[in-house]
Amino acid sequence: MSLERHILLPSATLRQAVAALETCSVKLCVVVSADRHVLRTMTDGDVRRALLSGRDLETLVSELPGRPPVTMAQGTAATQLIDQLNANQIDVIVLTDEEGRVAGLADRTSLTKTLFLSPPHMGEAEANYVQLAFDENFLAPAGSNLTAFEAALCEVSGRAHALAVSSGTAGLHLALRVLDVGPGDQIYVSDLTFVASAQPILYEHATPVLIDSEPESWNMSPQALGRRLALDAERDTLPKAIIVVHLYGQSADMAAIMALAQKYDVPVIEDAAESLGATYGNRASGAHGLMSVYSFNGNKIITTSGGGALVSDRADLIKRAQKLATQGRDPADHYQHSEIAYNYRMSNVLAGIGRGQLEVLDSRVAARRAVHDRYVEGLGDIPGIGFQPELPGTQGNRWLTVLTLDPDLVPVHAYQLMRSLKASGIETRPAWKPMQMQPLLRDAAFEPHGMDEAISVSLFLRSLCLPSGSAMTRSEQDGVITAIRDVLTKRVAA
Ligand SMILES: Cc1ncc(COP(=O)(O)O)c(C=O)c1O
Repeated sequence: MSLERHILLPSATLRQAVAALETCSVKLCVVVSADRHVLRTMTDGDVRRALLSGRDLETLVSELPGRPPVTMAQGTAATQLIDQLNANQIDVIVLTDEEGRVAGLADRTSLTKTLFLSPPHMGEAEANYVQLAFDENFLAPAGSNLTAFEAALCEVSGRAHALAVSSGTAGLHLALRVLDVGPGDQIYVSDLTFVASAQPILYEHATPVLIDSEPESWNMSPQALGRRLALDAERDTLPKAIIVVHLYGQSADMAAIMALAQKYDVPVIEDAAESLGATYGNRASGAHGLMSVYSFNGNKIITTSGGGALVSDRADLIKRAQKLATQGRDPADHYQHSEIAYNYRMSNVLAGIGRGQLEVLDSRVAARRAVHDRYVEGLGDIPGIGFQPELPGTQGNRWLTVLTLDPDLVPVHAYQLMRSLKASGIETRPAWKPMQMQPLLRDAAFEPHGMDEAISVSLFLRSLCLPSGSAMTRSEQDGVITAIRDVLTKRVAA
């Protein structure tokens, strides 16, 4: 909103006021003195009343009867502003600086809109690439967008081959099918994750084994992994694959995990659904295991509305996945099929969105990292408040900033904070509920990090994901920080 469009001097005429009200976004003008002190406000209603009382459009706004404007200091919390709007039965409040000069406007629509956790953030190129698909009349799978998107994905992931598919879940399912996973096979998977990491194991009637988190990265604990691999090696029940999740855009400790996987000769599938654009050492997150999967779901750091990708350095694996993703058609002139397969390919239209989104990935990572740093700056001094750590030698994409509340020091549970913030129009979410706590996986084996409470469970119970969108404005983020501080300090005072 441009404030200047809303400003009028007392020497302005009603005609000028009407013109200003037509162009400004919030339908209210502020009449100010030469030194910008607020004299009165003007709305369409004021103009209408003036004309009905016999004045004409050349009347000066200074000649109209006025009433004292409702003003509040800039930086006032959203909840207080909304209270004032309600008390005065108005929709806009003028904000003033310390000297009482006009500094901004707070309107009901912006104050009451929900600030979402991770909304899509389109760049400028996406619509053009989608239009290209229309221009070329290639709307189905295949087409220049799909080819270019896969080539760009290879570059971003540092992998030789990429297959764009309909979702991250489809990518994980294909990875398991490529490895011929079936009933009776064990698959290790991170315990603290979204259920999509584990669902494909169940699709194939394989047996999930849930591996705890480590405190350092919140991801798969190498300690728990090593213990379980040694046990299964002894029993001759080694898993067919290990699915390692890179939670909230933070890479797992891949050096330790890959060393163990190589020792026992077990392939690693990286569930990098949340970590596109993050790095581990000098390589991309998702460049380490045999295959890796990204997601372009609507809430991810970049999106194709829905979509995913499977990447690998092995051409044979991606070729096999491609066949499985396209109904498993045999090489014949007619339609011949010899195995169960899927319709999992990404469409050329959605690949157009992905192409544009990949062009802005670096700036999206930078923006989310800045959002994270600002939360740390604005909240990190509160005793008992912490954040997901970043492993040395890695750079997370900070897809979501996750706050932790130490129950011994913070008198508010994460869910209480979530509900209070919701009342102020701020969406937050609990951390993923661990797989071992899911009814779906109640029979699955679990390998803990240590002897105490599972790390995954303790992280779940004390964490909250904060709004982290790359398009979030500074003042929106200030609003979140103020609202959190308000809830926490009120509780301490109570
Ligand atoms: C860790 C993790 N794995 C897998 C997925 C599945 O991705 P999709 O929603 O694209 O199927 C998601 C996200 O939704 C996820 O967060």
